[in-house]
Amino acid sequence: MANEKDDRLVSPENVDADENSIEKSLRPRVLSEYIGQDDVKNELRVYIKAAKQREESLDHVLLYGPPGLGKTTLAMVIANEMGVNIRTTSGPAIDKPGDLLSLLNELQPGDVLFIDEIHRLPKVVEEMLYSAMEDFFVDIIVGQGSGAHPIHFPLPPFTLIGATTQAGMLSAPLRDRFGIVEHMNYYNATDLEDIVRRTADIFQIDIEDSGAHEIALRSRGTPRVANRLLKRVRDFAQVSDKDQVDLAIVRYALAKLKVDDLGLDATDLKLLTTMIKYYDGGPVGLNTLAANIGEETDTIAEMYEPYLLQIGLIKRTARGRIVTPKGYAHLSYPMPPQDERN
Ligand SMILES: Nc1ncnc2c1ncn2[C@@H]1O[C@H](COP(=O)(O)OP(=O)(O)OP(=O)(O)O)[C@@H](O)[C@H]1O
Ligand SMILES: [Mg+2]
Repeated sequence: MANEKDDRLVSPENVDADENSIEKSLRPRVLSEYIGQDDVKNELRVYIKAAKQREESLDHVLLYGPPGLGKTTLAMVIANEMGVNIRTTSGPAIDKPGDLLSLLNELQPGDVLFIDEIHRLPKVVEEMLYSAMEDFFVDIIVGQGSGAHPIHFPLPPFTLIGATTQAGMLSAPLRDRFGIVEHMNYYNATDLEDIVRRTADIFQIDIEDSGAHEIALRSRGTPRVANRLLKRVRDFAQVSDKDQVDLAIVRYALAKLKVDDLGLDATDLKLLTTMIKYYDGGPVGLNTLAANIGEETDTIAEMYEPYLLQIGLIKRTARGRIVTPKGYAHLSYPMPPQDERN
């Protein structure tokens, strides 16, 4: 990877164990503390209340949206609001049906099983989930050849919460088994500002509103990025002997960190520049682009492209991605004279 340090800074992915433990301390525990995502929260409030009134387990929930928007946090909040335990795992961690069975076996009635990156479950495991989700049982084949026979395992009613960055990567049978499907959107600046202020409170960082606002504007709509930028800015404030994080120090720190006005980093800029300089602004396919800038296609598809699309610097067309006039303007390149790219 070309510029690992910059990539890490605004990459919405969780980067290391240290960040993991910090995230834990920052996680809101209840819906009322969970900032933003109002539509999602309003719906969930109804479903949670209704399930509790009926004394039933909550229907299975699928959360999808770009990394770092709070899917794991929300799964924990849901379990907490339901007053049940949560077991967390991830698609790639469940190798065989037996692994899934032992997870399911430990659940108490009503408990939540959270499977992150659920689109990466092995097929055999996914197929076993179908009956588990629908009728709360699994059949496992034991023995071999003529001695092979199924064993029937009844399960307690439970709630599966699946998280994925791309709902399109889920098979239809799996998707159809989620009664509640929620799309997580990028956060607006007001919500991000609240998140920055909340994190600053927890870390006892004194931050001016203008500073919190500036961090919010440059966080790619992503709480994880906002929290990470705040931590780095705090470091700059500390070594400059500033007691308060103000707008000047935020701007100074983000310039040093090479995070631009829109929160774009070196990789975003390289991607846009490559499209403009070598492909006349597109259309260009994702694979070609990935090969050109030395990134994985998936990384671009999941982490870079969605935000560039969201803020309108690029656009998808039938023939590939193109840079929009706004994209040209952001990089201060002149638009090609005749725009026939659509
Ligand atoms: N709505 C929110 N209010 C306050 N903090 C939030 C909110 N959403 C996320 N955060 C914080 O942002 C960080 C990232 O959240 P989380 O780990 O839940 O993201 P994620 O969507 O599961 O990411 P990934 O897709 O990488 O697993 C956590 O520190 C969390 O506390
Ligand atoms: Mg997560």
